[in-house]
Amino acid sequence: MPKSRVQESLLVTNCSQVLTLRGSAPRRGKALDGPDIIFDGAILIRNGLIAAIGPRRRIERLPESRRARKIDLAGRVVIPGFVDSHTHLIHPCSRATEYEQRISGATYEEIASAGGGILNSVRKLRAAPAAQLKSRGLAHLAQFAAHGTTTLEAKSGYGLDWPSERKILSLLRELNHDQPLEIVPTFLGAHVVPAEFRNRTGKTPEAYIDLICCEWLPRVAAENLAEFCDAFCDRGAFTVAQSRKVLTAAHACGLGLRLHAEQLARTGAARLAVQMHASSADHLEKLSASDIRALAKSNVTCTMLPGCCFHLGLAHYGPARQLIDAGAIVALATDFNPGTSPTLSMPMILSLACNQMRMTPAEAIAAATINPAYSLRRHDRIGSLEVGKFTDLAVFDVADYREIPYYFGVNHCSLTMKRGRIIYTH
Ligand code: NIG
Ligand code: FE
Repeated sequence: MPKSRVQESLLVTNCSQVLTLRGSAPRRGKALDGPDIIFDGAILIRNGLIAAIGPRRRIERLPESRRARKIDLAGRVVIPGFVDSHTHLIHPCSRATEYEQRISGATYEEIASAGGGILNSVRKLRAAPAAQLKSRGLAHLAQFAAHGTTTLEAKSGYGLDWPSERKILSLLRELNHDQPLEIVPTFLGAHVVPAEFRNRTGKTPEAYIDLICCEWLPRVAAENLAEFCDAFCDRGAFTVAQSRKVLTAAHACGLGLRLHAEQLARTGAARLAVQMHASSADHLEKLSASDIRALAKSNVTCTMLPGCCFHLGLAHYGPARQLIDAGAIVALATDFNPGTSPTLSMPMILSLACNQMRMTPAEAIAAATINPAYSLRRHDRIGSLEVGKFTDLAVFDVADYREIPYYFGVNHCSLTMKRGRIIYTH
């Protein structure tokens, strides 16, 4: 089984820096900037879990370390594996044609209202055989691993009819078994109103919401197809009232809540996330000062997606700096999707976060590991390197952790480990 634990002891040693991110989670405010570095460190791994971690001199002297198989990292830098808490992993193909249209001046919303955008991907996904979606998904997962990601959330939302939404969620379950990364599935039936519910008698957006709430969500829960429910609450997608209905029904079915909020326009979605005690509110480019205060007082993780702003060529990135300074829980994710953020590289997201949102390299790493682990309710198992946790880690061929975001457009990840097993090496 791909996620089975390795039975032998393993010593990862000669690490110039090990960023542990240990301690209480989630991290807010100044705590986001303290990665807790072990210089010249080593990690002893037993059955896939961290058995000991600390300075190399101490760890190498342990009797178990002497017997263990050794991996000498020759001075490379180790961080917890990235936890990418917002992806649209399963989609049928790229939207490079729309990319070119946008370069020529069309906006994302113009393309969407002409029937392109998400609905373009929906038409193609419905027609795509599951086997084709699966091999595309597997190829992407291998790329995630090659960039240091060990856990990712993945949303449905390009099906928008029950057979197609179910096809995506079942595929996520299969992929979870067939390859080593852990995938956390999210139901995003409320991505946009599908074409067949627009301008037809009896088939209105409200009827679509009722279908999600009364039929699909109970099935998602009964078949255990998703852990979370998300909704795209924005101009051109769903209103706050419609999104509230969906999240209320999802909560009643026992699902955790996430929300696409305040990306294209300020709608009040962030307030909804706070009221509903959502695990995460994502995008947040259009927050007001009072939204920032409300989020900072809450336990909602503010997931920033700078890949979208970059790919859409926007001048304004989200207010990550203000959120951190106000004490909010901030996370970073790729939002890997064909329309607004076709990247699966967390190191690239770190570069954007540092350069465009003025996060420090240490803050960016914490926002890409322990805080998204918290938003996925997994911070007791992953997101930091501590005794008893899964050995999920990424090794970078750099001399200092700050070089991870400093270099951009180059992949310096040289080894990725999931539950003590090497899943990528270069
Ligand atoms: O997170 N905003 C909604 N969903 C995606 C875009 C999906 C698409 O354009 O295909 C996002 O940006
Ligand atoms: Fe998204």
